[in-house]
Amino acid sequence: MKVMVVGGGGREHAIIKKIKENPSVTEIFALPGNGGMANDATLVNIGAKDIPAIVEFAKNNAIDFAVVAPDDPLVLGAVDALEEAGIPCFGPRANAAIIEGSKVFSKNLMKKYGIPTAAYEVFTDMEAALSYLEEAPTPIVIKADGLALGKGVIIAETREEARDAVKGMMADKMFGKSGDQIVIEEFLTGPEVSVLAFTDGKTVCPMVSSMDHKRALDNDEGLNTGGMGTVAPNPYYTEEVAKSCMEEIFLPTINAMNAEGRPFKGCLYFGLMITPKGVKVIEYNCRFGDPETQVVLPLLESDLLEIMQAVAEERLDELDIKWKKGHACCVIMASQGYPASYQKGFKLDIPEEIAGDVYVAGAAFKDGVLVTNGGRVLGVTSVEESLEKAIAASYAKVEKISFENAFWRKDIGQRALKAGEKK
Ligand code: AMP
Ligand code: GLY
Repeated sequence: MKVMVVGGGGREHAIIKKIKENPSVTEIFALPGNGGMANDATLVNIGAKDIPAIVEFAKNNAIDFAVVAPDDPLVLGAVDALEEAGIPCFGPRANAAIIEGSKVFSKNLMKKYGIPTAAYEVFTDMEAALSYLEEAPTPIVIKADGLALGKGVIIAETREEARDAVKGMMADKMFGKSGDQIVIEEFLTGPEVSVLAFTDGKTVCPMVSSMDHKRALDNDEGLNTGGMGTVAPNPYYTEEVAKSCMEEIFLPTINAMNAEGRPFKGCLYFGLMITPKGVKVIEYNCRFGDPETQVVLPLLESDLLEIMQAVAEERLDELDIKWKKGHACCVIMASQGYPASYQKGFKLDIPEEIAGDVYVAGAAFKDGVLVTNGGRVLGVTSVEESLEKAIAASYAKVEKISFENAFWRKDIGQRALKAGEKK
């Protein structure tokens, strides 16, 4: 079987490595992938948003199955286009990917179907938004409607910061058209849990829960990033919480999307917060999380490609998906300065003996040498019987990898470790 994976980061590298375990797979193409995954996939120089070129490549190369991983091509309709060309695909169609593509859509969906989320108001008029802020309590959360490279959420501590955020999004267009509409919502508190779920629109199979570390620096300080590390499972996601999420959030969301005529097939990501008033949805993503995937898939015992095919063929109910018992920890090594400005082009050395546990996010070949080529450069994952051991094993591997200007958080998993001890 020839498989094609659209996307180019650490998440895609984790998906590719897992798909490779299926014995019927003969070749995997990454569009565009990155230099750091050249040993696991054939790199194809086609951008993840270039849908006509993606479809053309799939047809010309007799691709048997396609996986579309990132949000942009999903929201732009890559799966619709591939399916219309007769290529079986894993991922939601555009009319379902809107669950991530528009925060206004997802908030209104939750309100209409009684799915617990932060109280909110939608604004298309800046003056109305500014006058609403006069009375609103702080902190308060301002969200641009559309995709904004994960930066479209501003938590304003003061009214002045909130006003600046609204003006930045609506007048200065800091996120372009994504700021034409905004959501202003209640600030919630509590531990966060990421739950990715396979769904074919009928059955929903949650994967192992995980915990992201979004801030750049230790102790959750510094700027928000795409994620500096993850652990799985998440100790806050107890069996009781899982049960209530299934009843109050997961199934109602799948049913709501069906009722709207937008059946969701693929990986649905639930960003949850366990608040004093119960679990609430912070956000939906229409795809695997990054770097959640780098801890979740290594814990998957079952065959990923078989699951993805079952999702595409709407027979997920036939499968009994198995998970490994252990704990996983992924530490991201980034370029100094990320998520703001950083230098790239430094030689990247990954020793052979740990390459299997490394998911490369940003690397390229320059004159035949692998060099850094992004803010997040790679993630290192370990699976062990305890979280403590998984953390120690990942940090030991990090010490074996070198590139100039490397930086990483030293405390990935510590919060989870403390939470786990309290139980
Ligand atoms: P998002 O880009 O939607 O994942 O939001 C980024 C982060 O902002 C989330 O992971 C939360 O930590 C935080 N956040 C979003 N919405 C809220 C909220 N209503 N209350 C508190 N924190 C929030
Ligand atoms: N790690 C968060 C995300 O993938 O959106």
